[in-house]
Amino acid sequence: MGAMPEEIEDVVALLSNPVTKIIGMRRYTYGTINGVKTVVVFSRWGKVAASATAATLVNVFNITELIFTGVAGGISPELKIGDIVIGTKLIQHDIDARPLMQQFEVPLLGKTYFDAPTIQLNKAQKAVTTLIDESGIHKVINTTTLSKFDISTPTLHTGIIASGDTFFASNTNKQALLKKLPEVLCVEMEGAAVAQVCYEYNIPFTVIRTISDTADDKSVTDFPEFIANVASKYTFSIITSL
Ligand code: ADE
Repeated sequence: MGAMPEEIEDVVALLSNPVTKIIGMRRYTYGTINGVKTVVVFSRWGKVAASATAATLVNVFNITELIFTGVAGGISPELKIGDIVIGTKLIQHDIDARPLMQQFEVPLLGKTYFDAPTIQLNKAQKAVTTLIDESGIHKVINTTTLSKFDISTPTLHTGIIASGDTFFASNTNKQALLKKLPEVLCVEMEGAAVAQVCYEYNIPFTVIRTISDTADDKSVTDFPEFIANVASKYTFSIITSL
């Protein structure tokens, strides 16, 4: 699953004998990749869109595992554009039912974080490490098309990803999130929603994000440029490495 059409196009092209089905305004394309039955879908943006799509994947396509790849805004100062983050824990930074329950707690589940399963985490970590160290993702990506991003030394980070229905494009909002959740590595708009649906249906999931911008005043220009020139190449490289 991906949240931008540009990010999934090349993965759709990998499917053997692809068949398309439209359900609830989403286009699901299914076939096989290296013999593995696979469905590829563009979820659209935000937690509701991602949850609805994840529920359809579970209930209509009977998936046994879900992989979300896409971009995110860097929150930790250690992250730079082009780095890759694998989510160990996913949190919804905009859930707040205080004083009825703790801030960030998902009502009725009594959970704040959704943990990625260890098997999927290890597999993703190994694949992305190989991609960075041996294949050199920066070499796979044609650097001549990149106007301003220096992705010559991408780093893999594993840690907390925060999701919510907000695009972070100001230093003020970024600092406010860092103050609320100092351990968060990056922010996006779908991962924790998908993780919640997967938790509810007991489906193993992985969320892998490439840093497209630093979730601040520069995001308004960096994000569209990264999407236009770089994002799909990352997604393709990551998916084929798994
Ligand atoms: N995905 C990529 N960049 C983002 C940002 N700055 N805020 C929210 N989601 C994002």
